[in-house]
Order: sequence, then C-alpha cells, then structure tokens
Amino acid sequence: MSSLEAKIDRQKLPRHIAIIMDGNGRWAQEKGQDRLYGHFHGVESVRDIVEGCAELGIGYLTLYAFSTENWDRPAKEVNGLMELLVDTIRKEVETLNRNNIKLHVIGDRAMLPDYAQQELKEALDMTGVNTGLQLVMALSYSSRWEMVEAVKKIAREVQEGRLQSDEISQELIARYLCTSEFPDPELMIRTSGEYRISNFLLYQLAYAELYFTDVRWPDFRKENLYEAILDYQQRERRFGKTSAQIQEAPL
Ligand code: IPE
Ligand code: IPE
Ligand code: MG
Repeated sequence: MSSLEAKIDRQKLPRHIAIIMDGNGRWAQEKGQDRLYGHFHGVESVRDIVEGCAELGIGYLTLYAFSTENWDRPAKEVNGLMELLVDTIRKEVETLNRNNIKLHVIGDRAMLPDYAQQELKEALDMTGVNTGLQLVMALSYSSRWEMVEAVKKIAREVQEGRLQSDEISQELIARYLCTSEFPDPELMIRTSGEYRISNFLLYQLAYAELYFTDVRWPDFRKENLYEAILDYQQRERRFGKTSAQIQEAPL
C-alpha cells in the first residue's frame, strides 16, 4: 500500500466520486501528437482510477466522458472517440465482471451511433447483476439536457393527472433525473486546470466538494486520486450550518 493510500480514513470515504476527465487534447498536443492520441491514453487512466475506486470500496464513480456539446467537435475527433469507446467497452467488459463492477450510462444515448448503442446495451446487460462498484459513464450527457427531459416528463405526469403540481419536491425532481438510482456525489474532481463545471451534474453537485488539479487526465493515476480523497477528508462539510453546530453533532 502506498503511503498516501495508507493515510486515507476508510470510515470517511466519499460514497460517490464524480470526475470531469479533461486535458486529453492538450496532453497529446504538448507531445506533438494528434488529439486522439490523448484520448487513447486517457483510457489507461480510466482503467487505473476504476481499479483504485474498486480497491478502496467506493460505491459510485461517475466519469464524464463525452458531453452533448462535444458533438460540435471536428467529425474526425468525434468519430475517433466513438470508436475508442466501443473498442474499450468491448475489451474491458470481462474485467468489469471479474471485479463485480456494474456499468451504467447516463446521457442522450439516442445521439450515439447505432453500433455504439448496441455495444453499450450488451455491456449494460452483461454487468447488470454486479453489486460492487457502480460505474456511471456520462456519455452524450449534459445537465441542462437532463433537466429539460425531467421537466418534460414531470409536465406530462401532471397533464395526465398522475401527479399534482404541489407534489413536486426536490426529491421528486431527483427521481426524474438520469441519476435517480445514485446518491449525489460528495467529491467532484476536474483535471487539467480548468475551474468550471461544463454542464455536469448541476443539480446533483449542489453540496459536492470540488477538487481541481492541473494534472492532465492521461497522467492522472491512483496516487492523484488518493490526494484528492485526502484533501476531501480535511474539509468541513457544513451544509449551511455553522462550524460549531457541525462539531457538536457531526453528520
Ligand atoms: C477531455 O479532454 C475528453 C473529452 C472532452 C472527450 P479534452 O479533449 O477536452 O482535452 P483538452 O481540454 O482539449 O485538452
Ligand atoms: C468537459 O470537458 C466534458 C468532458 C470532459 C467529457 P470539455 O473540454 O468539453 O469542457 P470545456 O469545453 O473546456 O468547458
Ligand atoms: Mg477539454
């Protein structure tokens, strides 16, 4: 066990970690390579971080892999990313199963090419019974898209008389989001030195601790994850209360 890993308090682990995996393009360009080379190497980091989370016993890991806005990138990059996605899922599904990891996908799957939808469906089915780490891939996802979908569904329920408008609560809204099965993330990590959320889990991150690092995603490894978790464990999560209240009755 590394010294950083040994310092982690196992009683205070975040249940759910969400990561904006950013910086693949810059990582590649800094090496004089094509952006796709960076995405290709980003897969290594995904593997390492999934393994790291599973080893620690983290319950949920959500990875932002492709946003709805990313569809506007050059076709060559988008197509390369889709092929990489399918290829990676095909190669990794056995490892996921071996490690009892269940795959989930959130996002506008209808936007994905048919072959990618098919591959994903198979992987979701194949890992469906696993009870270990819940691995949530945000693919063709954006929070505003998700909110619009939720509002449409709720409006339909009201219109068709299955729901009264004053029954709409924060919990009800959460049940109509793509993340209804998952607790809110406690820790959100973004790599590569950008300090923004880029349309990721806007509702769910309301009280998440945010952690930003300059490390580019293809260089991000378990040790970097441990650093983020240790930083998280030093924070006082107050949820609007005073520090004294939290110290009297820890959450
Ligand atoms: C993140 O890396 C991966 C995706 C958005 C698909 P980027 O491709 O955004 O890399 P940078 O930010 O341009 O370096
Ligand atoms: C956010 O990264 C989306 C993913 C990591 C999948 P972007 O690189 O697309 O975000 P912006 O454009 O810098 O905000
Ligand atoms: Mg980026």
